[in-house]
Amino acid sequence: MLKFHLFFIAVIYCTLRIIEANDDGAVSFIREANSTTLEHKYDYIVVGGGTAGCAIAATLSQRYKVLVLERGGSPYGNPLLLRIENSGNTFANPGGLEAPNQAFTSEDGVASIRPNVLGGGSSINGAVYNRAPDEFISDAKLDKNLVESSYAWVEKVVASRPRNFSAFQNSIRGALLEVGVTPDFGFTYKYVVGTKTTGNTFDSHGQRHPSSDLLLAYANHKNIDVLLHATVYKVLLQGGGSRGVLYTDNLGRSHTALLSSERSEVIISAGALGTLVFGNQSLPSGGTVSSPDRRNATLVASGSVNRTISEFCRRSVSTNYHYHGGCPLGEVVDWSFRVMGLNGLRVVDGSTFLSTPGTNPQATVMMLGRYVGVEILKTR
Ligand SMILES: Cc1cc2nc3c(=O)[nH]c(=O)nc-3n(C[C@H](O)[C@H](O)[C@H](O)COP(=O)(O)OP(=O)(O)OC[C@H]3O[C@@H](n4cnc5c(N)ncnc54)[C@H](O)[C@@H]3O)c2cc1C
Ligand SMILES: *[C@@H]1O[C@H](CO)[C@@H](O)[C@H](O)[C@H]1NC(C)=O
Ligand SMILES: *[C@@H]1O[C@H](CO)[C@@H](O)[C@H](O)[C@H]1NC(C)=O
Ligand SMILES: *[C@@H]1O[C@H](CO)[C@@H](O)[C@H](O)[C@H]1NC(C)=O
Ligand SMILES: *[C@@H]1O[C@H](CO)[C@@H](O)[C@H](O)[C@H]1NC(C)=O
Ligand SMILES: *[C@@H]1O[C@H](CO)[C@@H](O)[C@H](O)[C@H]1NC(C)=O
Repeated sequence: MLKFHLFFIAVIYCTLRIIEANDDGAVSFIREANSTTLEHKYDYIVVGGGTAGCAIAATLSQRYKVLVLERGGSPYGNPLLLRIENSGNTFANPGGLEAPNQAFTSEDGVASIRPNVLGGGSSINGAVYNRAPDEFISDAKLDKNLVESSYAWVEKVVASRPRNFSAFQNSIRGALLEVGVTPDFGFTYKYVVGTKTTGNTFDSHGQRHPSSDLLLAYANHKNIDVLLHATVYKVLLQGGGSRGVLYTDNLGRSHTALLSSERSEVIISAGALGTLVFGNQSLPSGGTVSSPDRRNATLVASGSVNRTISEFCRRSVSTNYHYHGGCPLGEVVDWSFRVMGLNGLRVVDGSTFLSTPGTNPQATVMMLGRYVGVEILKTR
């Protein structure tokens, strides 16, 4: 009997080692919600393991116990998402409700795509990587030095310089310079006016690096749980602050995840289209907010924030997949991304943008996740 136990333990141990080391990105802290019972309370619960969510979760796990709840599955092991040869596929063939590139039609009838996968938009998007202009950073009242180091932290893992251009790309570059779109900046991640080659999240081997690679590279494995197919439908509020969340797994079962202390927080990073849910009503303090149907996500409205969020949405959502706005800085969240009028609730994702960064936003969304994470580590 003892022998059997030892053998069994050894097998489990080996299996774990293999999972830890698996180079397709499968790691032991990323698990299915349907087969996981949470044994802990968490210092931070991140709603949405998307472009911003992975960056902030990886950062906070350096010192605190973090839970990430992502409604989609994993991109790892899926060449349709991770290989450059298939990169047009997510646009050309949007999928159904379960798909990582979920098709949806906006209220005004515009067909579009919503990310539904760990890594969020960064797992399915066009992979163009470009920083925001200085005015965007100063309008958001962000510290320039921390912005710089946060971009660098992101770039070290996900971005690279493309080296293999098609004849078409080469002639476009030549044409721009010829008609005077200058200077020629060569390659840079920076936002510049002129002609340049920007970064890409596909590397020189044609492999995509979504924001979830930030978890693999930087997260403290002992401090983080990432649950897949975990759809948050309610933020629990008590006495003007958040207490935890309710979520469902893909078997339709409901689960509760709780915060560990008064200083703990729920961080909503569900994307401009998902952040969220949780109703459009003013909340009585001590109450809860909920979304009846995840397809009908409306944006966060909270406590004393008495606004019709959908107004913001209509004003700011664009049709070229670069959704942002909904919970603007200084209006719905304060300059530290805290939902005004509530304790322990932040929004950190593209929905906080005051305006478009004037370029492809994913670099800035990931930077923001890192940035706010570092600020929290510094001030707590
Ligand atoms: C088709 C397409 C192409 C694009 N191309 C580019 C490009 O080339 N370059 C670029 O810079 N940008 C591009 N973008 C835009 C960029 O990807 C997004 O702006 C960015 O990913 C937004 O990040 P986010 O963190 O705000 O939201 P997301 O990355 O969408 O993250 C939100 C996450 O929350 C999850 N979620 C939502 N609701 C819930 C819930 N209730 N419970 C649990 N989880 C939930 C979602 O599944 C998702 O993973 C593209 C976008 C799309 C859709
Ligand atoms: C949990 O979800 C995964 C992913 O969809 C699925 O493969 C697995 O069978 C589910 N587990 C159970 C017990 O149904
Ligand atoms: C470079 O591009 C060519 C044609 O676009 C392609 O056949 C080749 O596989 C690419 N090489 C790499 C390393 O991506
Ligand atoms: C909130 O949503 C409900 C139904 O989704 C709608 O009837 C109601 O008018 C909305 N309230 C506000 C304040 O927008
Ligand atoms: C979701 O929105 C659609 C279209 O606006 C509507 O027909 C449907 O009744 C809504 N569902 C819920 C549960 O609110
Ligand atoms: C919400 O705002 C409207 C318009 O500004 C105002 O008339 C209403 O009294 C406010 N409600 C609450 C509960 O603050």
